[in-house]
Amino acid sequence: RERGESARDLAGRHVVVSAGGTREAIDPVRFIGNRSSGLQGYALARTAVARGARVTVVAANVALPDPAGARVVPVGSAEEMRTAVLEAAGDADAVVMAAAVADFRPAAYRGSKIKKTPDGEPEPIALVKNPDILAEIGEHRRPGQVIVGFAAETDDVLANGRAKLARKRSDLLVVNQVGERLGFGTPDNAAVVLGADGSRTDVPRGAKEELADTVWDLVAARLKPRS
Ligand code: CTP
Ligand code: CA
Repeated sequence: RERGESARDLAGRHVVVSAGGTREAIDPVRFIGNRSSGLQGYALARTAVARGARVTVVAANVALPDPAGARVVPVGSAEEMRTAVLEAAGDADAVVMAAAVADFRPAAYRGSKIKKTPDGEPEPIALVKNPDILAEIGEHRRPGQVIVGFAAETDDVLANGRAKLARKRSDLLVVNQVGERLGFGTPDNAAVVLGADGSRTDVPRGAKEELADTVWDLVAARLKPRS
């Protein structure tokens, strides 16, 4: 297959891609966030459109032009992303969670801006766990729905990836090795894609579109033929 000029192998399919990074409000002016730019998610959206899919992008705090031909649902927090992704996933053939979802949020939102006091240190900010959207989709998946997660790992990257793939009941997990100036905010990515069937696909460093097309190749191979 010629990259980027494949047959429209996703024609008639609805795919959902989450992109960007959630922000968890502390007070009216502050949040807990992360460095995800949305570049990989938007590359997934563009390549899926090119392959003929109907594409819903749930975009958390992405400052990029909308991917042409995709429906973009903007969200802020992990809770908002959960609502939007579960809604869009209802009739989806594939769900790809490329977004960086904050693991924790402040236990309480302060309705007023937290002020400095002349003496003394600030109150600690208590955190609670956010819902795990990917795990929830994996748990409630329809037969034939293909579920894909992303993970950035350090240390024993592949063992951590395999454990995470199983825990989230996903079909595929795209594992990035963090560090070495790849990943956040850069146009390039390198990854290993692990399959629940035991497969392993190494994607050498290249444009995020190339990784995206490899993900869709692996998704397309797992979609049930339509009757
Ligand atoms: N994810 C999610 N909801 C969360 C956290 C993560 O849907 N609350 C998704 C991410 O979008 C990604 C996958 O789960 O596709 C893996 O995210 P990651 O942060 O690597 O996994 P965690 O389960 O949060 O584990 P940890 O951060 O502790 O390694
Ligand atoms: Ca996490």
